Amino acid sequence: MRKIADYDVKGKRILVRVDLNCPVKDGKIIGDTRLRAHAITIKELSDRGGRLIVLSHQGRKGKEDFLSLEQHAKRLHQLIGRDVIFIDALVSEKAVNAIKSLNDGDIIVLDNVRHLHCETEHPHGEGEIIHHLSPVADYYVLDALSVAHRKHSSVVGFSKRIPSFAGDILAAEVEAVEKVRHGRDTTFIFGGSKVEDSFEVMKRWLAEGRARHILVGGALSVLMLYATGHSVGDSLKYLEDSGLMEYVPAAKELVEKNKDKIVLPVDVAVSIDNKRQEVDVGHIKNGQIWDIGEKTIEKYKEIIANSHTIVMNGPAGVYEIDDFAKGTRSLLEAVAKSKAFSLLGGGHTLSALDRFNLNKKHFGYVSLSGKALIEYLCGAQLPGIVALDDNEKKFQLNDLHHPRRK
Ligand code: 3PG
Repeated sequence: MRKIADYDVKGKRILVRVDLNCPVKDGKIIGDTRLRAHAITIKELSDRGGRLIVLSHQGRKGKEDFLSLEQHAKRLHQLIGRDVIFIDALVSEKAVNAIKSLNDGDIIVLDNVRHLHCETEHPHGEGEIIHHLSPVADYYVLDALSVAHRKHSSVVGFSKRIPSFAGDILAAEVEAVEKVRHGRDTTFIFGGSKVEDSFEVMKRWLAEGRARHILVGGALSVLMLYATGHSVGDSLKYLEDSGLMEYVPAAKELVEKNKDKIVLPVDVAVSIDNKRQEVDVGHIKNGQIWDIGEKTIEKYKEIIANSHTIVMNGPAGVYEIDDFAKGTRSLLEAVAKSKAFSLLGGGHTLSALDRFNLNKKHFGYVSLSGKALIEYLCGAQLPGIVALDDNEKKFQLNDLHHPRRK
């Protein structure tokens, strides 16, 4: 991949697509791991005289975490130690004027790109943002593997119009993932709330024979327990409200076909008046399932200890609440202790690491990506990376080559 690190950026207006998507609680962003990582690469480009227009999304439309990027800009300002101006616009004259008036080293953050319908819905990823901003920018940089699996306008559209590059984070993540990309017999630990994503990926891993074990936690375990005929207490409403009931038949079939690989909880922790109560699967009557139970933790720990490659994506439970953090914490500690090469991904996994003060050096590689990481591991071609490759062929830049690092 052509890297921005190898090109002169002084005086260039650069659209930098990063991933500032953070976990959110009560309208506030929590867990700023991605912000801290991107602050380093944004500062570096600014130090080199680039005029930076930062693009990102936060959350998904209709979800609680769908916010503007104002808080993110403030946090970047604190982390970088220089002005980071939030512009509450994307394609209006206001945004274009702000870009035109940038000086060397200036940094602006435009609003959440998903405020534009065409960001996610344009069939070729060429929404109006591309038409408005390409003419006022010199370069485009994609610096997030975590969004490279989306054929969204801000991920694939600019590369059709202006010279484009990989940022340091994207380049480093791709390099790290390549190391485990072709492995077999991997133990996967799936959790979190993005059930649709995990489910699809899991199906693929199993079909390709790449998974030795899949340890299931989080909302995915609720779906799978229900699909295999267990009562899930008050979590049934969660499945209904989140539109997950349509996955029930497929989940049932998947578990039945892969009984030796998919490992489901044998007990869970339900929330009764916000307090943890351990219940064996088969006896769940009421309360919401908010964590895996202690017997399950022991069972999963044993499998982890005997694995040689582990990929963990998503927490096992509601780790933000102390009473329900045990599953996630124990599994992370077990992975840290094991001799296996481990690859961790997903925004909430990163926040959990921070919450439990677990040192990243105990893990093989801690990625900033979630589903994109898993897809890339599956061997999928990610649209964002394909777009960069095509761009490199289209825009030959030999004459602009000014290596930063000798
Ligand atoms: C992530 O958190 O995995 C990325 O920010 C991508 O978010 P998305 O799954 O909503 O596209």
